[in-house]
Amino acid sequence: MWNSRALHHLLLHSFFLIASVSAQRSNITSAWKTLSGSPPLVIARGGFSGIFPDSSKDAYSFAILTSVPEVTLWCDVQLTKDGAGICLPNIKLENATDISAIFQNKSTNYLVNGIPTSGYFSVDYTLKDLSSVALTQGVFSRSEVFDGMLFAILTVDDLVKELAPPGLWLNVQHDAFYSQHNLSMRNFVLSVSRRVIVSHISSPEIGFLRSITARFNPKTTKLVFRFLGQDDKEPSTNQTYGSLLKNLTFIKTFASGIIVPKGYIWPVDASLYLQQHTSLVSDAHKVGLEVFASDFANDVSFSFNYSYDPLAEYLQFIDNGDFSVDGVLSDFPITPSEAVDVELSSYDADCFAHLGPNAKKIDNTLIISKYGASGDFPACTDVAYKQAILDGVDVLDCPVQVSKDGIPFCSSSIDLIDSTTVAQSSFSTLAATIPEIKPTGSGIFSFSLTWDNIKSLTPSILNPFGTKYKLFRNPKYKSVGSLLTLSEFLSLTKNQTSLSGIVIIIENAAYLADKQGLGVTDSVIDALSKAGYDKPGAQKVFIQSTNSSVLNKFKEKTNYERVYKIDETVGDAATKAVDDIKRFASSVVVNKNSVFPRNTGFIIGSTNTVSKLKSSNLSVFVETFSNEYLSQAWDFFSDATVEINSFIQGSDIDGIITDFPKTANRYRTNKCLNLGKNTPPYMQAVQPGALYGLITDNFLPPAVAPLPPLSDSEVVEAPLPPVSKITPAFSPDSGTKPGTQPKGNAQPKVIGCFFLSSLAVLENVLAESRMMIPDCHKRLEASLADLKGILAELEESGEKEGPEIDEARSTIAEVEKVIETSEA
Ligand SMILES: *[C@@H]1O[C@H](CO)[C@@H](O)[C@H](O)[C@H]1NC(C)=O
Ligand SMILES: *[C@@H]1O[C@H](CO)[C@@H](O)[C@H](O)[C@H]1NC(C)=O
Ligand SMILES: *[C@@H]1O[C@H](CO)[C@@H](O)[C@H](O)[C@H]1NC(C)=O
Ligand SMILES: *[C@@H]1O[C@H](CO)[C@@H](O)[C@H](O)[C@H]1NC(C)=O
Ligand SMILES: *[C@@H]1O[C@H](CO)[C@@H](O)[C@H](O)[C@H]1NC(C)=O
Ligand SMILES: *[C@@H]1O[C@H](CO)[C@@H](O)[C@H](O)[C@H]1NC(C)=O
Ligand SMILES: *[C@@H]1O[C@H](CO)[C@@H](O)[C@H](O)[C@H]1NC(C)=O
Ligand SMILES: *[C@@H]1O[C@H](CO)[C@@H](O)[C@H](O)[C@H]1NC(C)=O
Ligand SMILES: *[C@@H]1O[C@H](CO)[C@@H](O)[C@H](O)[C@H]1NC(C)=O
Ligand SMILES: *[C@@H]1O[C@H](CO)[C@@H](O)[C@H](O)[C@H]1NC(C)=O
Repeated sequence: MWNSRALHHLLLHSFFLIASVSAQRSNITSAWKTLSGSPPLVIARGGFSGIFPDSSKDAYSFAILTSVPEVTLWCDVQLTKDGAGICLPNIKLENATDISAIFQNKSTNYLVNGIPTSGYFSVDYTLKDLSSVALTQGVFSRSEVFDGMLFAILTVDDLVKELAPPGLWLNVQHDAFYSQHNLSMRNFVLSVSRRVIVSHISSPEIGFLRSITARFNPKTTKLVFRFLGQDDKEPSTNQTYGSLLKNLTFIKTFASGIIVPKGYIWPVDASLYLQQHTSLVSDAHKVGLEVFASDFANDVSFSFNYSYDPLAEYLQFIDNGDFSVDGVLSDFPITPSEAVDVELSSYDADCFAHLGPNAKKIDNTLIISKYGASGDFPACTDVAYKQAILDGVDVLDCPVQVSKDGIPFCSSSIDLIDSTTVAQSSFSTLAATIPEIKPTGSGIFSFSLTWDNIKSLTPSILNPFGTKYKLFRNPKYKSVGSLLTLSEFLSLTKNQTSLSGIVIIIENAAYLADKQGLGVTDSVIDALSKAGYDKPGAQKVFIQSTNSSVLNKFKEKTNYERVYKIDETVGDAATKAVDDIKRFASSVVVNKNSVFPRNTGFIIGSTNTVSKLKSSNLSVFVETFSNEYLSQAWDFFSDATVEINSFIQGSDIDGIITDFPKTANRYRTNKCLNLGKNTPPYMQAVQPGALYGLITDNFLPPAVAPLPPLSDSEVVEAPLPPVSKITPAFSPDSGTKPGTQPKGNAQPKVIGCFFLSSLAVLENVLAESRMMIPDCHKRLEASLADLKGILAELEESGEKEGPEIDEARSTIAEVEKVIETSEA
């Protein structure tokens, strides 16, 4: 077997594309509202525990590699039977090690703070016993592939010797427990502090801190009282942490700071919206206590107010105008590092804090919206578009659909089920199966309803990570706004001086012309012209399509810029294909995987796609950049900013297509761009494939076939067919009668559509129940009964297969589980 360790060191030290060099940069003085006026501390909990097993050597070294220079490494201290202090996140060793496999069936029962607890405890093992135990990923949602590296448990002394941490924070979560086992945390911290500099010692136990306070000089070692849940009892006083919070002067008698869960400072309501901040930070600062905030992780749900952008959350705590916390405890220290200034003699990086509302744009990558600000509001509604403009988008997008009466309008999909509640309306009877435009399942298509019908629909926010991953977008605003006709869209964009252009997206043109008698290209040309977009001086107009025949048509008839979207994932592009694209387009849209292909969520390298297209002077736009961490490769640490930065710095793309334009626009104004060799490590592009290269054989996923290149035959298409005359003349109310049959070759399925609509209802209610929106239990049961009835009917009629039936079955199972647990 090859030597994984050697390889991994190589890779770790060249993780970023630009080598880190100590930088000489101007001193930017920024007023921090911390107690000392210094920048807040970045504290790495168990190292970079968001990626590597908590408290492992690589987690710690990776934190040093990717964070501000004075990053503080946090070690949760546990004591072995022979009194050695080791770093492990949990008092129960099986949580983050493989001990239960090494010492099988050896778990024991002890009282921990009075609570009988079963597990593996360090008090039963000597340090030597533990030498065969390896650290593992303890958080189920994180990748376990690095467990194969068999990281040894580190003692505090190992940590210092091997990593020379800039700052060392020892957290003593349990002193009383170890005392009951005749092991003294006090003796341990006193002895270790004679050997190494410990910058902070924290504990949730007052008795412990009081027992050591006289022995530490606060200039060297700060003692920090850790608050747990407001209703939890502090073991040495029997007071709740909530009541101790009212007695900060008492805490000041034995500690110089406090560390609190972030909700103590910025509380959230029951639906995860941020409330006003408490006065805790200023109260504590008044009595001379520093305040550290804990529980930051990029890969958990946090308040909806941050739109899934973890950097926005840190900025709320350190750069809100009123106060700054004195440090943040994070599993992903790269993200607070981006936020925090560093003021060392050699180095002053002020990347994202103190940007202010009018920060100058430093990077010129184009920001193109995906359905407006559809991460925050229902796609393609007036509110989503207006928000995208406020958020600083350059190019606003309108995917054009056409109504039955020939009105072009903006909507994310030709199937209105995706973006409206049409499935729950009387129009649900218009559901149809049309494999040419929707290969699986049925839909309620835009050309089956008149614009008046469509206008009356309630928009619903897209939830691309909802069904599968339970990450929902902005529930409070999930059905606001209204859809716009293309001409309404154009009058909205026309006067916006901040916009440099618009992109009109056209799909299914051949089907619409041939089968529905709807000429979408002509409608678009007409609307643009009526809005004055064909006159000189107007914003740039991009016409985008996956079908070259549409772009060729526009080339014949107009001067608008044309964008070809490659809908396949490709690893390269054949020269002939590129030459062809050049003939009808000046820009190309590719997906993220065509730039950095992945295997099981890890980037495995980079392709030639971008360089090949760019070498022919084609601009390359990449989609889709979303804030939700599940949309990103592991390599980007669940941080949308790291992903954006790596594509822009690492691959030189020309445009970013995003449903969260605010995050992309903030990126362009950060002060750590164009610094060349002085770029701080956390603002360098990640090296594609570096993490994947660390995976040991036993955890390596099966190799994936190399991506095919784009071939010429995929580019060349027959010309668009003429608009057919099969359409009956438009009659104003023809679409409003339930049961009206869609035209063309659509095959309406009446049961199918009721079925579909109950499924949609059920999924919505289920989503709400997960978010614990009250009163949904009854609705859930009612919808469940509905759906079961329809499913039974379908099964009787012989329809037993199909994706919707499968989806229904699994939804029913899921709902039954929810009902069961909520009744238990
Ligand atoms: C930045 O400040 C430090 C100390 O405050 C000083 O030694 C250093 O020369 C300054 N650097 C620059 C580039 O002004
Ligand atoms: C370990 O503890 C963390 C935090 O308490 C918890 O989220 C996780 O599920 C636990 N993991 C295991 C394997 O018990
Ligand atoms: C541990 O317990 C399980 C089930 O009780 C048993 O199958 C297994 O053999 C035991 N392992 C050892 C090493 O005793
Ligand atoms: C701790 O020490 C006391 C006194 O020496 C002894 O009675 C007790 O059994 C010890 N407890 C444990 C858990 O070893
Ligand atoms: C705290 O309460 C427990 C039980 O309620 C009691 O046994 C213990 O002595 C109390 N400790 C202190 C310090 O008051
Ligand atoms: C603060 O705590 C100390 C020590 O427990 C106590 O003597 C004092 O009365 C408390 N003050 C308030 C305002 O609760
Ligand atoms: C969080 O978002 C909600 C809903 O938009 C808003 O009402 C609230 O004021 C926001 N909270 C903060 C602290 O900005
Ligand atoms: C755009 O500007 C024109 C003239 O400057 C004005 O008549 C029109 O009302 C404006 N439209 C919008 C939507 O503000
Ligand atoms: C690309 O454009 C540049 C300048 O606009 C031109 O010099 C170069 O020849 C072009 N390259 C190709 C391959 O068209
Ligand atoms: C592209 O449009 C042509 C008609 O112009 C049509 O024949 C072809 O099927 C379309 N291609 C795709 C992939 O939809």
